Amino acid sequence: MFTPTQKQFKLIKAGLFVAALLPFLRLVVFVFLDRLGANPVEFITRNTGDWTLYFLCITLAVTPLRRLTNWIWLVKLRRMEGLFAFFYAALHFTTFLWFDHAFDVAEMWKDVLKRPFITVGFIAFVLLIPLAATSTNAMIKRLGAKTWQRLHKLVYGIACLGILHFWWMKAAKHNFEQPIIFGTIVGVLLLMRVYWAVAARAKKRGAVAGVPARQRAVAE
Ligand code: HEM
Repeated sequence: MFTPTQKQFKLIKAGLFVAALLPFLRLVVFVFLDRLGANPVEFITRNTGDWTLYFLCITLAVTPLRRLTNWIWLVKLRRMEGLFAFFYAALHFTTFLWFDHAFDVAEMWKDVLKRPFITVGFIAFVLLIPLAATSTNAMIKRLGAKTWQRLHKLVYGIACLGILHFWWMKAAKHNFEQPIIFGTIVGVLLLMRVYWAVAARAKKRGAVAGVPARQRAVAE
C-alpha cells in the first residue's frame, strides 16, 4: 500500500492544485490570444460547464478509489476537488450572468424560469453553495460530523442534476453520447456507494444478532 510522506503528500496536493487550475489558465490565455472561436461566450460557457462536471465526477470518485486501493490519504484531497467543482460552476454561472444577461438579474431570472435545462443547472449550482460554504474544518466541527456527512451526500444529487442539465441541452440536437458517458460514470460511482452501505448495514445487523446467540451458547 502506498502511503506518501508528509513532504510527498504536499507535492501531490500542489501538483493537483496546479493541474486543476490549468483549464482556467488555458481559457485566460485563449482570451488574450483571441482563440475562443466564432462564439467566445459559447466556448467559455461550454468549457466551464464541462469542467464543473469533470470535477464533480473526480470528487465522487475519491471515496470509491480510497476503498479500492486502501489509500486513506486520498480523502484529504477530496475537499480541494470539490472546491474546484464549485470554482468552475461559479465561472460557468458568471459567464451566463455576465455575457448572456449583462448582470441584469431580473432578465436572468426570466431565462432561468423559461428554459428547463437552465432551471436544472441553476438548482444544481445553488445546492453546491452550502457544500462549499461548509467545507472548512471549523464548519465540520460546528455542524457535527454526522450532519456534515449527511449534508455533503447532496453532491450525488447535484451531479445527477448536472447530467440532467447536460442531457436536456443536448436533447435539442438528439446528441446524447456525452451525457450517457457521464451518467454511466456517476451511476457506477453511486451504485458502489450503495453496495458498500448495504453491505456495512448487513454486517452490523449480523454482528448485533450474533451477540445474544453467542452469549446463549456460552450460558448453555
Ligand atoms: C453544477 C452545476 C452545473 C453543471 C455541472 C453544468 C454543466 C454544463 C455542461 C456539461 C454543459 C455543456 C457543455 C458542452 O456542451 O460541452 C453546460 C452548458 C450550459 N450551461 Fe451549465 N452547468 C451547471 C450549472 C449551470 C447554471 C447555474 C447555469 C445558468 C444559470 C448554466 C447554464 C448553461 C448554459 C447557458 C449552457 C450552454 C448552452 C449552449 O451553449 O447552448 N449551467 N452546463
